Parts: sequence; C-alpha cells; structure tokens
Amino acid sequence: MAELVDRLFVHCTELVTLADGPPVGARRGAGMQGLGVVADGAVAVRDGSIVATGPTDAIARAYRAAEELDLSGHVVLPGLVDCHTHPVFAATREAEFHQRCAGADYMAIAAAGGGILSSMRALRALPEAELAARTTQHLWGFLQHGTTAIEAKSGYGLSLDDEVKSLRALGAALAEVPLAARRTFLGAHEFPPEYRDRRDAYVDLVIQQMLPAVRELADDCDVFAEPGVFDRSQSERILRAAKALGFGLRVHADEIQPMGGAELAAAVGALSADHLGRISDAGIEALAHSDTVAVLLPGTIFFLGKPHHAPARRMLAAGCAVALATDFNPGSCFTQSLPLIATIACRQLQMTPEEVLTAMTINAAAALRMDHERGSLHPGKRADLCVLDLPSWRAFGYAFGGNPVALTVVGGRPVLANVAERWPEFFSSGGG
Ligand code: NIG
Ligand code: FE
Repeated sequence: MAELVDRLFVHCTELVTLADGPPVGARRGAGMQGLGVVADGAVAVRDGSIVATGPTDAIARAYRAAEELDLSGHVVLPGLVDCHTHPVFAATREAEFHQRCAGADYMAIAAAGGGILSSMRALRALPEAELAARTTQHLWGFLQHGTTAIEAKSGYGLSLDDEVKSLRALGAALAEVPLAARRTFLGAHEFPPEYRDRRDAYVDLVIQQMLPAVRELADDCDVFAEPGVFDRSQSERILRAAKALGFGLRVHADEIQPMGGAELAAAVGALSADHLGRISDAGIEALAHSDTVAVLLPGTIFFLGKPHHAPARRMLAAGCAVALATDFNPGSCFTQSLPLIATIACRQLQMTPEEVLTAMTINAAAALRMDHERGSLHPGKRADLCVLDLPSWRAFGYAFGGNPVALTVVGGRPVLANVAERWPEFFSSGGG
C-alpha cells in the first residue's frame, strides 16, 4: 500500500539532489564534485518537507498524493541559496555605472560622496513603509531566479534611526515574500558624513548604541573592512562587541585592497568572509583551517570592471569551504541572478560546474547556518526547488544571458512561474 503524501513532483528530466554527500556542513575539495543526479527523478513532499527522492517509477510505487506535478523536460535543483545580498535600498545608481563605463573608479566615486553615501541619502529620505515596499520588490527578484533563501544586509542608513528603519523594513518585506532569510546589520558599511572627521566616534556609536538597538532585528553583524573604510582595529572592535551580544559575524574582507580581512574573519570565528578578491596566502591558510565559509562574489568584480578575481582554485586546493553569492546591491552588483553568477564563476574563477552548484546550494546554506534544512534534497529538509528550463544540469552556467528558471517551489508549493501559461493548475487558482 503506497504511503500518502501531500504532493509528488515527477518525471524531472534530471533531479540534482546533492544527497550523495553529507546532509549538513559545507563541502570542501573533492567533496564539491558529487551532485547526486537522478534521471527521471521524483520528489515526495509532506508538510513542506521532503519525504523521499528517487527515480519516478520507484517513488510512484511507494507514494501516492492528491496532487502530482509533471516536470518532464525540466532539470530540478535544490532551491538556490544567495548568502550575501544588500536588498534594502531606496534607489538604483545607474549614473555611477555610466561613470564607471567612462573610466571612473568605484572607490574614487565613493570618496567623492557617491557610492554607498548616495544610497544613504536616498534611503534616509524615504519613509519606512515605502522602503519596505521597494525591498519587497527586490526580494521577489530572488525567487524569480530560483533563489529560495538569502542573507540580507542593512547598511545604507548609517545612523541609529536609519539602520533600525532599514532592518524593520527588511522584516516587513520578508513577511510578504516566501523566502527564508538571515538578517544582517551592516551599520559599519561606510562612515556617514557627520562622522567623517571623527571616525572612532562612529565606531563607538555602532558598538554602544546600534548593536544593542538591533539585537532583535538582525541575526548577524557585518563590517566593510577595507583600507579607507573600516580599518583592521575598528573592524575587530565592532566584530568582538557583536559577538559578545550573540550576533553571528560576517566580514567584507580583502575586496579591493588586501588588509588581513580573511585572517580577521577566521580569528573572530565569523560565519563567512566575503569577497576576497585580494586575499593573501596567509588568509587562504587561515580560512582553510577554520569553519568560516569563503563567500566569493565574482559578479561584483565583473560589474566593477576590476582585474582581481578571488583566487578560487588556490582556495579550493587549500581546502577552504567556498560558497558563491550575488552581492545584489545598487552599486557594485545589480543582479539577483545566481545562474548568471554561475557562468562568471565557471569562466572567471575556473570553478567546475559541479563546484559552482555546490557553492550556491549546500555551501551557501552552511554559511547561513541553514544547512540542516536547506541546500540539498535530503529527506527531512524543506522541499525548496529551483526548476530549470534546461535539457540537462550541464547546461547550468552554459546557457547565459536569459533566465533559465521556469518555476520556483518553496516548502513544496510552487510560488512563482516565469512562464505564465505553464502549470495553470497552480497559478489560475492562486497557487497550490
Ligand atoms: O559588497 N563593498 C561594500 N559594499 C557593497 C557595495 C555597496 C554599494 O556600492 O552600494 C559590496 O560590494
Ligand atoms: Fe556586499
């Protein structure tokens, strides 16, 4: 007698489970090569969680369900996990993109009061409800590209009130959108103009007033540790104070100039060290011997037109736990597409397609401490799926420039279809 479940997804041309590796923990080295691909695969779902995966004929014999969705012609991945994003902003910055296209440098634009500070001015001027509405729109963009869980930072408020406003707007937006999220306070993203000449006083403000005020609004604390922004000792003071309050830690580390950011992230026990375009050999060693996930953001280097991609091959060879993310933000990387990041990672970071898929699923989930629930299709995890309009998983990264995502499933429920006429049984009645 077949066991009753809520829903069956059947006849996936290929089902990429990542279930031939351990369910929990970031994968390293050769552990990033196994994808656990099942041909003509199926997923059985109950109460939003995966009951079983396997070949369709075996799953269809063992389980029955009132609802069955035929995914023939599609590749199915675990819902993608974007472990580094800045979605709480008020306005786009295409004028700066034009300046960069004409040869201007990102840090020079920032030093002249553009960049993060121009986003700060726009955000401060926008009422909280409107900021929440814009953030909600930004969050739907992730689901459109097959992402079902994100990390999301504040960091364009840069005052006590505006950082609180940002995180409250983020919370309101997350309540509207079926995305899992880890919320990060990034008050140390830049020095606001009112503290330009008394930088340590801003660090004191972050530590003494902002961190306690956002304790319930954010899970983690991040710092932009970069020469000209937060120096090593200022970054360390903030991170240690955040740790003492129970925040998880993240570091924008060694993005543009080397500064020992990776070493600092490992030393303070950060969940992730991010960017790492200019990581040193000592930084690679420090991360390789730590649980800190190295989050690479090649879309940013590409979009800024910088020459220094992170040395991904050396980091992988050293045994670093490598994840990939978009860095979605209005300045340095304006995309929510992990499929596009996959192409850039394959070609500019020389990562294999298997490593890339691992880096944006289970390893990204580990960087968010969501690996017990997400990042692979092991039984017991949430049934979050990214359904691709591709003939094979091998075309992920290869097919670029369009959006290969046909359907996004969260907790076993289709939440967004990019091809309106498909799956009418779910979307005509307002969803399953
Ligand atoms: O991760 N590097 C610092 N922060 C963001 C960019 C922020 C912006 O330009 O608005 C980043 O690239
Ligand atoms: Fe960033």
